[in-house]
Amino acid sequence: MQLMRGLVQLVPAFAIVAGCANNAPSTENKATSAQVSSAQSPAQSPVERGKYLVMIGGCNDCHTPKKLGPNGPEPDMARELSGNPSTEKLAPVPAGLIAPDKYLAVVNNHLGAWVGPWGVSFALNLTPDKATGLGSWTEDMFMKAIRTGKHQGAGRPILPPMPWNWYRSMTDEDLKALFAYLQSLPPINNPIPDPLPPDKIPR
Ligand code: HEC
Repeated sequence: MQLMRGLVQLVPAFAIVAGCANNAPSTENKATSAQVSSAQSPAQSPVERGKYLVMIGGCNDCHTPKKLGPNGPEPDMARELSGNPSTEKLAPVPAGLIAPDKYLAVVNNHLGAWVGPWGVSFALNLTPDKATGLGSWTEDMFMKAIRTGKHQGAGRPILPPMPWNWYRSMTDEDLKALFAYLQSLPPINNPIPDPLPPDKIPR
């Protein structure tokens, strides 16, 4: 029961970033943009702005491992944005579970390994660790990745459920701030495997 409550708390933020397709302008949206522009005051450093964007952008939902708290699973901020834990083994996915009239995707307890028609995708390590995170990325690579939906800005398509197609609307300034914040995090060594094609989904 506690576990369920925790999961339910995690889901709304995820739904906002990944599931909400209703972009109709409303007074509510206007209030939000007013708040956003006030948060853009010059007193805020790029790193502070980037932290704010990570919080409202829901990046922690998928990119931060979960731990069990008093109310169920919660983001383990000691491992902030270090990606799907490499120590986790993927549980087998019953054949036929993911189908047009069944489920679109299933996800592990960290909301970090996602199984769908695309195969399995693993939320990346966004900390500046050189070997396993974004330590060797340039700001340009990061901006191109989010803008084009291509791995490192030039490679294979970035897989679901990474909502780059929503984030691509950020201003250059905000994308730079986001990158500055990610690069300010403590580096955490956590290797992320390449995505698995559909025929490699563990059964
Ligand atoms: C709904 C889950 C989800 C959310 C929310 C999310 N990501 Fe991701 N992200 C992923 C997954 C899964 C991948 C791996 C995709 C792949 O391997 O193709 C990924 C990949 C990435 C990558 C690597 C892109 C590349 O070039 O391969 C970056 C950078 C990234 N995310 C940044 C962010 C940032 C910044 C935020 C918040 C503003 C965020 N993500 C929010 C799931 C998510």
